[in-house]
Amino acid sequence: MTDVSTTTDLTARWLGLTLRSPLVIGASPVSDDVPVVQRCIAAGAGAVVLRSLFEEQLVLDQLAAHRYVDSHVDSHAEAMTFLPDSVFDLGATPTLRRLRRLKAAVDVPVIASLNGTTPGGWTAYARDLQDAGADAIELNLYEVATGLHQHSADIEDRQIDVVASVVAAVQVPVSVKLSPFYASVPAFVARIDQAGAAGVVLFNRYYQPDINLDTLDMDRTLVPSTSAELPLRLHALALLHHRTGLSLSAAGGVHRGSDAVKAILCGAHTVQVVSALLADPPGAMRAIHSELAAWLGERGYRDLDEARGATALDNVADPAALERVNYARMLQGWRISATTRS
Ligand SMILES: Cc1cc2nc3c(=O)[nH]c(=O)nc-3n(C[C@H](O)[C@H](O)[C@H](O)COP(=O)(O)O)c2cc1C
Repeated sequence: MTDVSTTTDLTARWLGLTLRSPLVIGASPVSDDVPVVQRCIAAGAGAVVLRSLFEEQLVLDQLAAHRYVDSHVDSHAEAMTFLPDSVFDLGATPTLRRLRRLKAAVDVPVIASLNGTTPGGWTAYARDLQDAGADAIELNLYEVATGLHQHSADIEDRQIDVVASVVAAVQVPVSVKLSPFYASVPAFVARIDQAGAAGVVLFNRYYQPDINLDTLDMDRTLVPSTSAELPLRLHALALLHHRTGLSLSAAGGVHRGSDAVKAILCGAHTVQVVSALLADPPGAMRAIHSELAAWLGERGYRDLDEARGATALDNVADPAALERVNYARMLQGWRISATTRS
């Protein structure tokens, strides 16, 4: 099916799955369009993640169903009004339909995504996603802590409970998509491992609204990422490679083949792409794939295992570059340049 060739074997092992390439179409509307996904696979994608099924969709759907049984009124419409801006379809049905359609149309692993942060009955929908054909579940723990009395230890305990209940609901592997904002990402990743997950995705991209100075309101425009967001991911990957047996997936800021190369050199088993795909999905995927293949081939890597982790913490000549001392060095060593002064 693929229309690209390479001298490096790009077969990737991720979450116990075998992928023909480490490039993954990340969770987004790109995955909704079956012909577009097929063209991305022909251009080199090795797997696809569906858009998330959100805790809010599932909880409100269950609430609506209970109210209907209790009162024999149509509470579905009422439940919709609880949702800010009514952004969601309620219930899992549209997602399950999309998943079955995609599974029937592609020959690469399809990963379903659940998105939520509080333990509850909604986590059992992981089983429905598995039964509809999902090869793995990606659990997104996107959390926005707003309360002065919401302590980080309590939030992390609660999130680990969510991970454990999703893991308990399925036989397929579970990968957890994380925020970068933990006091210790490595320590939290270790807890995710203990809870039975098979991998982590580093990291969620946070969508803070900007301020519109004309309207003095929030500007919710979604601005695509740039490669400038990648180093945060590279740093975490480099720290975790050698320190965890979990599958590592990079997400955020991958726009070029060189970005994918860097993520793999730091320890990523797969590399997820979204923003780069929004304008021209197959074109961007083809460019990233061929640049990745060319770079690895030119340097004589026979497969991804040879390249993975080459610049991780334990392999780089100067591990301190990844630690606090680097921060001090950078700030102490900075000098105002001639161009800045003039
Ligand atoms: C329009 C859009 C919709 C997205 N929807 C989801 C989603 O449903 N679930 C999820 O986990 N991430 C979602 N994401 C986040 C992406 O999967 C990805 O993590 C993020 O865009 C960073 O990758 P990038 O730098 O390649 O864009 C979405 C991103 C975009 C742009």
